[in-house]
Amino acid sequence: MLGSVRAMRSTERAEPPKTLRRAVCPGSYDPATNGHLDIIERAARLFDEVVVAVLVNPNKKGLFSIEERVEILREITADLPNVRIDSWRGLLVDYCREHSIAAIAKGLRSVSDFDYELQMAQMNREISGVETLLMSNNPAYGFVSSSLVKEVAHYGGDVKNLVPRVVFERLSAKFGHPDR
Ligand code: PNS
Repeated sequence: MLGSVRAMRSTERAEPPKTLRRAVCPGSYDPATNGHLDIIERAARLFDEVVVAVLVNPNKKGLFSIEERVEILREITADLPNVRIDSWRGLLVDYCREHSIAAIAKGLRSVSDFDYELQMAQMNREISGVETLLMSNNPAYGFVSSSLVKEVAHYGGDVKNLVPRVVFERLSAKFGHPDR
């Protein structure tokens, strides 16, 4: 006699999780690249809700203002219904605490990324318990970083295939090159 305990039939669905699984994709996004977008899209498939947070670094004057970065991110993620964009000044884990976010999702391009990301992940977990999910980057964008994109675009190099269309147009406008 098995009592009331029985195995779940394959046709039955597991109970949905009671809490919303929410993650944050933090970054400077100055500007967002195809590599960033790839990670955001993949995180959006793993979590119920993803917040892309533009972190304000008061010591770094970026090329794009925080408002521009947010605007660009809104535009390029417009087709992802469970993604929203925000900005934050301060500790990332304080943002997580205020918005009930249990996980940070980030992309890893290389071992040099890994050293830095692991250190931050360990620090964030130590001071708050927030976990970090490090996702392997699409190798097609392994060499793409916001700073290299800006440098190449500054000198008129072609970054068309490395960034979303809107970013390419805005870079061309900023540096006075035609958006071919
Ligand atoms: O795109 P970036 O510049 O590599 O992103 C780094 C960022 C903004 C995610 C990181 O510097 C950060 O989390 N800054 C917020 C301040 C903070 O929480 N610092 C402690 C990190 S352990």
